[in-house]
Amino acid sequence: MNDNTVISVKNLKTFFYQNGRCNKAVNGVSFEIKKGRTLCIVGESGCGKSVTASSIMRLLPDLSRIEEGEIIYHKGEENIHIERLEKNGKEMRNLRGQDIAMIFQDPMTALNPVYTVGFQIKEMLTQHYKQRNRKRVDAKVVSLLEDMGIPAPAQRAREYPHQFSGGMRQRAMIAMAMACSPKVLIADEPTTALDVTIQAQIFELMETLKKKNDTAIMLITHDMGVVSELADDVVVMYMGNIVESGTAEELLRHPHHPYTRALLRSIPVLGKGHNQDIQPIRGVTPDPYNRPVGCQFAPRCDYYNAKCEVMPGEEIVSGTHCVRCHNYKEAVADGK
Ligand SMILES: Nc1ncnc2c1ncn2[C@@H]1O[C@H](COP(=O)(O)OP(=O)(O)O)[C@@H](O)[C@H]1O
Ligand SMILES: [Mg+2]
Repeated sequence: MNDNTVISVKNLKTFFYQNGRCNKAVNGVSFEIKKGRTLCIVGESGCGKSVTASSIMRLLPDLSRIEEGEIIYHKGEENIHIERLEKNGKEMRNLRGQDIAMIFQDPMTALNPVYTVGFQIKEMLTQHYKQRNRKRVDAKVVSLLEDMGIPAPAQRAREYPHQFSGGMRQRAMIAMAMACSPKVLIADEPTTALDVTIQAQIFELMETLKKKNDTAIMLITHDMGVVSELADDVVVMYMGNIVESGTAEELLRHPHHPYTRALLRSIPVLGKGHNQDIQPIRGVTPDPYNRPVGCQFAPRCDYYNAKCEVMPGEEIVSGTHCVRCHNYKEAVADGK
């Protein structure tokens, strides 16, 4: 940990219990979210990205619980153990919104259809910002919407979410999330439902906010293209484990884990032209209730051997770059 760390997650385990069976959705992950940096968490669907985010926000569904580990929010000199807070208690409610805000894939998760957009942002401001001067609050609502690039913000504030387009709703949700200038913004696939132009605009907006407020961003995505454009730091997840992590530079230039390498082969790379050999990853993610023993990626891996029946430990390959694979040297030497 260094002084810029805002959140440290240590050996987090979050499990689901259903019909007497246990799904180890997040099975011992550790990472740090740092001030003024974007940490991308990447992996296919079902890898435990959203459950990691919900664990930090303490918004887990009833069937699940944090089994082990620590989630520490470093607030100045204070270290707040989020995993020990009551999930709907006052402290946690204050942290949500005021210190740590989250934006979702579907803005309607955060926006209430029966209130105007302006009213909802105002609520956020009066609840958390302790801002009660009405005129000043109204002005702040309009300026927030304006900051998000919403045209005619004063008029838009009086409209309901259904009167907004998908991209505008996403902006309104970000406005709400940013209302209290949170230290951390967690974005869970915030642009998956939007077209590429709007996606680019939303990402640009997040970048601007990061630079302006030094916000720490945790951005969840299944898209390596997004990672290569936005990440400062990267965590690659597969079936509840971190298989590789490092700075974007380390990880994208020198991917070590066969899974990371396969993810990168499955997207077109900018500047490489049209004749790229794009290969989807072979096979599918396993049934989470019936997992392979040892390395979770083994059944799909080109480098599988008997060693893989034992879960590999984490190995530092250089600087902050870590990988969890018995056979990464072969994968790298192959150059595939
Ligand atoms: N509400 C839920 N009820 C039961 N299982 C869930 C629920 N949400 C997630 N899971 C399970 O937890 C695992 C991780 O899911 P998730 O974090 O949503 O994946 P990701 O966000 O990477 O696509 C999956 O096996 C998924 O089936
Ligand atoms: Mg998800």
